[in-house]
Amino acid sequence: MTDTAYKEALALLSCSGQQHLLRFYEELTDTEKENLLTQIRETDFSYLARFPEKDRPLSRGRITPLAAMELSEIRKHAGTYSEKGLDALRDGRVAAVLLAGGMGTRLGTNGPKGCFDIGITKPVYIFQRLVENLLLRVRECGRQIHLFVMTSDVNDEATRLFFREHDNFGYDENYLHFFRQEMAPAVDNHGHVLLDRKDALAASPNGNGGWFRSLDRAGYTELLTREGIGYLNVFAVDNVLQNICDPVFIGAVIENGCVSGSKVVRKSSAEEKVGVMCLEDGRPSVIEYYEMTDEMLHAEDDRGERLYNFGVILNYLFRVPDLIRVMDADLPVHFANKKIPYIAEDGSRILPDEPNGWKFEYFIFDILKELGSCLPFEVERNREFAPVKNAKGADSVETARALCLENGIDL
Ligand code: UD1
Repeated sequence: MTDTAYKEALALLSCSGQQHLLRFYEELTDTEKENLLTQIRETDFSYLARFPEKDRPLSRGRITPLAAMELSEIRKHAGTYSEKGLDALRDGRVAAVLLAGGMGTRLGTNGPKGCFDIGITKPVYIFQRLVENLLLRVRECGRQIHLFVMTSDVNDEATRLFFREHDNFGYDENYLHFFRQEMAPAVDNHGHVLLDRKDALAASPNGNGGWFRSLDRAGYTELLTREGIGYLNVFAVDNVLQNICDPVFIGAVIENGCVSGSKVVRKSSAEEKVGVMCLEDGRPSVIEYYEMTDEMLHAEDDRGERLYNFGVILNYLFRVPDLIRVMDADLPVHFANKKIPYIAEDGSRILPDEPNGWKFEYFIFDILKELGSCLPFEVERNREFAPVKNAKGADSVETARALCLENGIDL
């Protein structure tokens, strides 16, 4: 049995020149051997074929500005939008998806980012803040809302345990679903997959762009269909003022006939580190701050307003049938040059001081272009955007706490 499994793994690895992953096989215990062979069988090696793309600049179409629906416009129609959105919520047509598969490395925490405590006089965890925000909506619309939480191999157990230990922060467990995102192998500078241990490949979560495929693989598309859920509000773990399943936003997207919507804020400065809504070859898209030229950063219209001024806060609304339609689209792969611990040829474990390899990631906003229509929807940044990204300085625990207090949240 193991012998056959070994031969199959070797054959699989030979196709992509990765036989070195079995280098220490003979040294392993039976259980370790089985773990390694299983991981090899389950790893998606197709990422490796895209590795040469890392040396080419990401091929982008023609980027042009995209106007947002601004606050003044939203206020004029807030009543109608809110009614429409609340109807959808009351009918159970909207569910929420929390993206929490990332690693929180910038924050300097080992555990899941959502377990981070931002409290001052008492514990207030990031997960708790998000669930409490969604519970406000549950009360407002008078019915439960399905919440899907995306985790990854690096934090799945810890995340589930944390929710359990805190009684799901009051969320009805029949409406709380966890699913794991996929992992991608991590490679060295030559495209060879690294070993994290002698019996385990180095791998990392494959970015937030694979979320719908992972939700589908976990079998939840069936639940969406059965329950008649037509819209998913997808949001990031790290914004403690995240306004989830906002009826005005939902109503605006539906009323304007868009298949997706993206909450955006007016940038605080030209250099703010957020992705910006734009058009790419006439289709909605996002350009990350590090992809923008100086000219784009500072370009202005005739009112003196920045042309690329609306930053995405990672709170999107998607229409489910359209997500299904584009699920198998070939999204761009983004490459991140990172320090990746590995087992060297002599069997020692190396913790590099400098980036020594690459991780593969899909980005959520790359599906906007495939979907075809997106409503950029402006929100007040001080009320809806308090990201906890860094240990200190901008977008840190300190700035997020100040914003929570400003919004009357007891910490
Ligand atoms: C993200 C957005 C950026 C936006 C900014 C606003 C992307 C790619 N970037 O940047 O456009 O302006 O937020 O704050 O969307 N995640 C996973 N699995 C992964 C990787 C990430 O679930 O494999 C989740 C994280 O847990 C987090 C979210 O995706 O909830 C954002 O992740 P991160 O990679 O930190 O993106 P940012 O650089 O903050």
